[in-house]
Amino acid sequence: MKIKVSAPGKLMLLGEHAVVYGYPCLVTAVDKRLYVQAEIINNKEDEIIAPQVKESRFVLESIAQFKAKFGLEKSVRIITKGDFSHRVGLGSSSAVTVATFKALSLLFKLPLTLREIFDLSYKVNLSIQGVGSGFDLATATYGRTIFFVTGGKIIEPLKINPLPLVVGYSGIKADTPFYIRKVAEAFKRRKEDLNQIFNEITKLVYQAKKAILKSEFKLLGELMTKNHQWLKKLGVSVPKLDKMVMAALEGGAYGAKLSGAGGGDCMIALVDQKNRRKVESAIKKIGGEIIKTKTNAKGVKLEI
Ligand code: MEV
Repeated sequence: MKIKVSAPGKLMLLGEHAVVYGYPCLVTAVDKRLYVQAEIINNKEDEIIAPQVKESRFVLESIAQFKAKFGLEKSVRIITKGDFSHRVGLGSSSAVTVATFKALSLLFKLPLTLREIFDLSYKVNLSIQGVGSGFDLATATYGRTIFFVTGGKIIEPLKINPLPLVVGYSGIKADTPFYIRKVAEAFKRRKEDLNQIFNEITKLVYQAKKAILKSEFKLLGELMTKNHQWLKKLGVSVPKLDKMVMAALEGGAYGAKLSGAGGGDCMIALVDQKNRRKVESAIKKIGGEIIKTKTNAKGVKLEI
């Protein structure tokens, strides 16, 4: 028997970096998905074919944790496919981790709740990366748009309509652990300074939560742009992302910001539908690549 499941990628809306330090963030699941097919095999060793993900360690560690939890000895073959490459920063490692747990739980008929999938995935994530808030695992697991606090202290899916987002890929692969470490170094030296930045970002996150729930996109856009300014102060933006944000704003976006750790990957802009084309071409003109995607996607699910 073969089981195929999928989990969505993610985009950070507001609150990156602050969320590593116990503050909240807003994140949305996107309709670019990562697929995991699992089957039991007779080999001694597990077999992993995972070209989409940067490291098959995430798959291997998830299998190991699952087997340890349920005392299993059988071997499995895992094959992954993806609507996106790990280069764009949509969260392929977290999606593959969550999808592997779900696939194994269905394959061995050993049910796991969504909370258990999140907690197991977070353990895998910490054991491999040592850092990270787990926000990407929450979106891969629960889907939709989520108000999230570090480590899953709060995972609150919001009942909202899809967001009119334009996503621009910078063409630069961001090194997330590097930027998390960079902020951690700064935190050691300038704790008060950084806590003040995180507090300001947190105020924006709470206001944005309200704005999202009421579909107040103009306000939400302004909050996003302010968040970008604080991320610049934090030292995680790069000129290419700043230029793309500026181009989006000049093209008529309600607001724009980098999304994720910084250093590269994607930026997002919130737009009125009538300005979408203009914003997209402004981003393309300065060398950004538009990634067509919808927000609010479904969490981990069985594929038939
Ligand atoms: C990276 O996409 C977002 C960070 O906040 C890290 C994390 O929350 O795990 C920088």
